[in-house]
Amino acid sequence: MIKIAPSILSADFAAMGEAIKRLSDWEADWIHFDVMDGNFVPNLTFGPPMCKALRPHTHLPIDVHLMVEHPGDWVESFHAAGADCITFHVEAERHVHRLLQRIRGLGMKAGVVLNPATPVCMAEPVLPYCDLVLLMSVNPGYGGQKFIPETPEKIRALRRSIEARGLACDIEVDGGVNAETARLCVDAGATILVAGNSVFSAEDPKAMVRTLRCGR
Ligand code: DX5
Ligand code: ZN
Repeated sequence: MIKIAPSILSADFAAMGEAIKRLSDWEADWIHFDVMDGNFVPNLTFGPPMCKALRPHTHLPIDVHLMVEHPGDWVESFHAAGADCITFHVEAERHVHRLLQRIRGLGMKAGVVLNPATPVCMAEPVLPYCDLVLLMSVNPGYGGQKFIPETPEKIRALRRSIEARGLACDIEVDGGVNAETARLCVDAGATILVAGNSVFSAEDPKAMVRTLRCGR
């Protein structure tokens, strides 16, 4: 089953509570929560207080994508704010193995994120400690960018690596996912698709969520 995780980075920031409630009507599976620090990426978004404010408005799992330096500084506060899953960039953390275990130890799903130029081998040593691996299909920092065409090749390599180890790790893809690129990702072995612009700017977001799931 493919999961669709709309990114609220593309929602109306002045009406976030309403946007969150609509995601269940659209049959989204997760809520993707993009945290940017203006340092690891050239943009700033929101943090644990926003997560805490939104938590009472939805039963959907909140998938926190940390695009920050020192991601370990934030896991306890996101846990307290009601996050269900935390992913962080391997490029931003020296103690990847330790941090994955800390996140899991708090009862959340844990995963690493790889930027487009970071090879799959950077995730391989920690795959047994990951519930998911997030592959960036754009350079992180902004919504509405174009899907990097080499991504499906990377998804395939990661899928092979996960299967060779007999693991059940999800592969999440983030950036430029639309009806066309969703198909490429799913065929390559992705199981969770993040979608910002394609869902929030769709005329019929519910139909778009269904389309992105590629009938699976
Ligand atoms: C990019 C973020 C993405 C982004 C996706 O830095 O991590 O989650 O919001 O937006 P779209 O789907 O519009 O590329
Ligand atoms: Zn993201």
